[in-house]
Amino acid sequence: MKLIVVDDYEAVSRAGADVIASIIGRKPHSAIVIATGDTPMGIYEQLAARNARGDVDASRILAFQLDEYLGVPPGDRRSLYGWMERSFLAPLDIPDANVVRLPWDEGLAEEGCAAYVRAVEAVGGFDLAVLGLGPNGHLGFNEPPSGPGSRTRLVDLTNESIESNADYWGGPDVVPRRAVTAGMDLLLAARQILLVVSGEHKQDILRRTLDGPVTPDVPSSYLQQAGGVIVLADRAASPSVG
Ligand code: GLP
Repeated sequence: MKLIVVDDYEAVSRAGADVIASIIGRKPHSAIVIATGDTPMGIYEQLAARNARGDVDASRILAFQLDEYLGVPPGDRRSLYGWMERSFLAPLDIPDANVVRLPWDEGLAEEGCAAYVRAVEAVGGFDLAVLGLGPNGHLGFNEPPSGPGSRTRLVDLTNESIESNADYWGGPDVVPRRAVTAGMDLLLAARQILLVVSGEHKQDILRRTLDGPVTPDVPSSYLQQAGGVIVLADRAASPSVG
């Protein structure tokens, strides 16, 4: 695991965009799983600007959704697919045919998760997983406890995640209670993992991710045992530099 600490959010965004651009440069058809959440938004803005200037061509990547709220259709602005669409797919001119979605409808969840796993296997696994860090160590919506073999599946959100997602929704009472997530098994097997972390409020969970016991109670702690992991953090989030 390689920890890179940079000055601030702006620098995280630039460095994160460099990592993604270099992977796309080496393999234009890279299979990349794309986190939403606030942290990677600056990276995606950087990439969009580079795309507009013609410095990056991401249009051939295969983009995989990381997680989704159950029961929230893709047309709903609050769906994570909608967020991925606005922040990543549209600005980078990625066509629908190059996007692998997770199911959002409970009736189709099992079948949809199986189809998603087949699509990941068909391309030989993820070339890159771009991940944010949940306040409880969740990756995607792999809520604690989630071990390294946790599959792509339906999950119940923890109170901590409901609270931390409340801002996106306008209050904890309206946050969906269930979600679908790409499994730990697929994420940890990615050839490269880019974990992006920003802000003092992430300092404690980042410390537990990097140095704490490897345990299902902190799903992100399994990154200690995965290959090809880059943790990109700003000073505010960094437990060692603080
Ligand atoms: C959310 C999402 C994750 C995201 C994480 C961190 O709940 N399920 O995919 O990466 O929590 O979000 P943020 O970057 O807003 O802190």
